[in-house]
Amino acid sequence: MVVSNREPYIHAYRNGQVQVRRPASGLTVALDPVMRAVGGVWVAHGSGEADSHVTDERDRIRVPPEKPAYTLKRVWLNKEQEEGYYYGLANSALWPLCHIAYRRPVFRAADWDCYREVNEKFAQAVAEEVGEEKAFVFVQDYHLALLPRLVKERCPQATVAHFWHIPWPNPEVFRICPWKVELLDGLLGNDMLSFHIRYHANNFIDTVDRELEARPDREMTAIIYRGQTTKIRHFPISVDFETIHWEANRRPVKLRMRELREQLRLPTRNIGLGIDRADYTKGIPERLRAIDRFLELSPEYAGDFAFVQVAVPSRVHVEEYRRLNDEIDGLVEEINWKHGRGAWKPIVYLPQHLPPTDLLALYRLARFCLVSSLHDGMNLVAKEFVAANVEEDGVLLLSQFTGAARELRDALIINPFATDHLAEQIHQALTMEDDEVRRRMRRLRDTVRERNIYKWAGDIIRKLGRLV
Ligand code: F6P
Repeated sequence: MVVSNREPYIHAYRNGQVQVRRPASGLTVALDPVMRAVGGVWVAHGSGEADSHVTDERDRIRVPPEKPAYTLKRVWLNKEQEEGYYYGLANSALWPLCHIAYRRPVFRAADWDCYREVNEKFAQAVAEEVGEEKAFVFVQDYHLALLPRLVKERCPQATVAHFWHIPWPNPEVFRICPWKVELLDGLLGNDMLSFHIRYHANNFIDTVDRELEARPDREMTAIIYRGQTTKIRHFPISVDFETIHWEANRRPVKLRMRELREQLRLPTRNIGLGIDRADYTKGIPERLRAIDRFLELSPEYAGDFAFVQVAVPSRVHVEEYRRLNDEIDGLVEEINWKHGRGAWKPIVYLPQHLPPTDLLALYRLARFCLVSSLHDGMNLVAKEFVAANVEEDGVLLLSQFTGAARELRDALIINPFATDHLAEQIHQALTMEDDEVRRRMRRLRDTVRERNIYKWAGDIIRKLGRLV
């Protein structure tokens, strides 16, 4: 059983019809193929307006719609709960607390109450499905930190593992959280807690050592607390390489490449690409400033260059996200005004959700993909770009502050805060010899092909099997 806040399929009304959509979420993109392969139940918040229209009396629906392979069980939250738990505690307190992106976390007692209430609600839904079975419950992310202990209390026979998809900060940062003890206590209900990289796992052990009367076993990378042992591990998450590779090679994507080139008036070769949720941790203003600097330094690219930025709207009820959207709008306007000539504008800004075929077409059209996160647990856009680059003719510029940078060594590793250097690296990506582009991309593809999402899931399940 997988448990996460975000659901893999969202049902919504469009022109009076129920339509299904896949959210812009690394977590769901990564775990959906695993669930398709192994079956089981995925418990998640039912966030679509038509979600309840399509579920049965136990709030369940079989997915994916085109070829059902597993069950999605939806948990319903009212507006107040969504406000306090999702927009409040999860995304105004824990998100900025764990990402070092210089935004001050907001801690509201009312949000904490909602967070506890919603974690209880998820625990109830999990217990309904698990019953007396020796199930394997796989909890996802920072929305559900209290869930492992709550599930263990209700279903002691279940094996509970948790994957924390965002960074874990050092103890100095985490100690400001008013509910740090409760959060750590909840997480130590797990049999195994995992992060993308060793650094975050070590930060977690240091935090527990500082805050709780617990016994960290650094040799075994485990924590013994309240008579229970929680193993702390790291497994870098990935994507379904073969499926992306195969889809990217299909005719609809090739057709879309032609159409998009025309519609967006893209040049033949010098195309840069950014694809993100509109989130302040992704470094979108920083990358736009670097594009601006690049155009100042290399005016010969005027008329023969485009940077396509897809920014999927996200968490717009949180003030910081609204401010970010305004900032991006302003920067795009300013840079296009400053460098534009006649009908040509250097930045093509698409603040919308695009279908998978369009995303694959853009990945294939791009000479370079720029991932400039200020801090990111992993970043799967980097891996998707590599998997979609079937012609091995693209360059990946990847922030050193992503988990992915530890594996994808053949990318051009960048610092999004160093604007001038990043502008030079953009130039380097456009002028790199074809042989070198291919050599680097081949090695990147070998890495992602081998360390794919099935290896990630297999490694976790194998490790857990040995531990319990
Ligand atoms: O990085 C954590 C994460 O859960 C990712 O898996 C995903 O890309 C993103 O946050 C989704 O955010 P939300 O579910 O709030 O839209």
